[in-house]
Amino acid sequence: MCGIVAYLGPKNPLPIVLNGLQRLEYRGYDSAGIFLSDGLTRQTTKVVGKVSELRNELATKNKFDAQLGMGHTRWATHGEPNQLNAHPHVSNSGDLVLIHNGIIENYGVLKKELIERGYHFTSETDSEVLVNWIEEIKKTSGVKLGKAVQMALSQVVGAYGIVVHDNSNPMELIVARLGSPIAIGLEKEGFFVGSDATPFLDHTREVIYLEDNEMAILRAGKDIQVRQTDNDTLRTPTVEELKWNLENIQKGGFPHFMLKEIHEQPDAIRNTLRGRLFAEEGKIQISSFNEHQSVFTQARRIIIIACGTSWHAGLVGEYLIETFARIPVEVEYASEFRYRNPLIYSDDIVIPISQSGETADTLAALKLAKKAGAFIYGICNVVGSSISRETHSGMYTHAGPEIGVASTKAFTTQIAVLSLIAFKLAVIKETLSPKALRSHLIELDKVPTLMEQLIAEKEQVEEIAKIIHTATNCLYLGRGYNFPVALEGALKLKEISYIHAEGYPAAEMKHGPIALIDEAMPVVVIATRKGHYEKIVSNIQEIKSRKGIVIAIVSKGDTSVKKIADYCIEIPESSECFTPLYATLPLQFLSYYIAVLRECNVDQPRNLAKSVTVE
Ligand code: AGP
Ligand code: GLU
Repeated sequence: MCGIVAYLGPKNPLPIVLNGLQRLEYRGYDSAGIFLSDGLTRQTTKVVGKVSELRNELATKNKFDAQLGMGHTRWATHGEPNQLNAHPHVSNSGDLVLIHNGIIENYGVLKKELIERGYHFTSETDSEVLVNWIEEIKKTSGVKLGKAVQMALSQVVGAYGIVVHDNSNPMELIVARLGSPIAIGLEKEGFFVGSDATPFLDHTREVIYLEDNEMAILRAGKDIQVRQTDNDTLRTPTVEELKWNLENIQKGGFPHFMLKEIHEQPDAIRNTLRGRLFAEEGKIQISSFNEHQSVFTQARRIIIIACGTSWHAGLVGEYLIETFARIPVEVEYASEFRYRNPLIYSDDIVIPISQSGETADTLAALKLAKKAGAFIYGICNVVGSSISRETHSGMYTHAGPEIGVASTKAFTTQIAVLSLIAFKLAVIKETLSPKALRSHLIELDKVPTLMEQLIAEKEQVEEIAKIIHTATNCLYLGRGYNFPVALEGALKLKEISYIHAEGYPAAEMKHGPIALIDEAMPVVVIATRKGHYEKIVSNIQEIKSRKGIVIAIVSKGDTSVKKIADYCIEIPESSECFTPLYATLPLQFLSYYIAVLRECNVDQPRNLAKSVTVE
């Protein structure tokens, strides 16, 4: 995610773009930049940090009457957050200027080709490759910018929302979209562009939303032209009248960021798998594995260190890696690991998992392991965060900024990354046949689509929430891969609805928790067909015989559990290793709807912070 704002027209673009970027900071920022032009004078300003830093930097620069402004708040995916990697990016000739939201998967191949043709690069970003790829095509084909963008994008693999400007044609902007949103605001003499409509809400309520595979040619004082990027088919765009207020738009029309982020999970997983998973070929590409091949080949033990939800993801990772790669895995609470003088060996791989990349306990545990000589391989969601900078290598989840304190899309994207790591290690250790690998990768590739179908059935969960939202205690039970999901479901409920909830391995029930069961105790049981099904059915029967209320997460088409549980929520049938990705969704919705019914502050629950940067 990131923020894109542009303005072309008679007004002063500087305040429009700066204020617009400020409104888009919720989409993530680690750096920001702006390009201003009056057709002759051109000025690019880029800073690390928030838009306020950009405002301060601009205050030191000469003012001039621009009529074009292009601004960007970056949420880095390729290249650390620094001034050089900040957008806008300018082509080698200095003629083309681009701002980009998204990921260019094949930027490495394009960059190599461009370097061979004499191009040089000042940043590490995929975006700078894109602007020079467009330049090269424009130069060699002798076409105008619009056509060059179309030709360039036909060779690009990835997701983008871009605005491109050619200094030789100062009154024109080219905008294109595939996978990253673009809104175009219309006014009599000019155009606004934004990642959403918030930047220009005060200037116009007339908006056109580009569709995927569409581009628009914006010429000041002329009508907008919208066409298909890949075949020139023109579309008469529908001009919508904006009804939403600022907060509605930032939440994508959802009442809470948490609900928006639950819905974003399919796309977040797509973005996390993008450029790494090649299911039909039965292949996984992880550049950091290639760089450290020997470390992974010699790995004798993996230690996962994390806190909270990330620790739960680590437990799923333990099942994945031990099942497929047969490498011993230990999952440690970072806060415990850092103080218990643990045994750490130089051939250990230590994997810190952290959404924020700033959790104090996880950072401290990482440093302890690093000092002991282990190889540190991080899984973070924030590029350039403290934890990511301390690691020897790692992988980013591309979940985009997670604003709700209760972690949702971070959890499922962490599991997606851990799945890739487990399968990649299995290839290295030759513990999984190519046929079995390909079959799993094809199943993993389908997860986002099946998740979308599951999200569409969320109302059934809302009905169940209405029945149990007055409970004071709740148990969550799961076995195998779904034991960590039971823990995660319980954490979600307790942290946003303040109901006491505990997750347990289902078989542990008879070692104590069963004493809690009575008609006032809702018990959520993950009872999918794959993975100890018969045993979990008998656990449900034990609960029912003590008058407990059972809410069962079952595989689609299940009939046995339906006969004994009070409520059943169906999830797609899948291999056991993928059930956490599906089973988590109804538990997220359940905690969300219960918290709303209890009128809790869903996005900022009491006593909690999004990132625990202190001990
Ligand atoms: C999860 O919903 C909580 N917000 C919390 O447990 C969180 O997962 C934990 O603080 C770890 O945060 P991190 O992933 O940013 O390190
Ligand atoms: N992939 C680009 C970069 O890392 C754009 C990231 C974003 O969407 O902000 O600079």
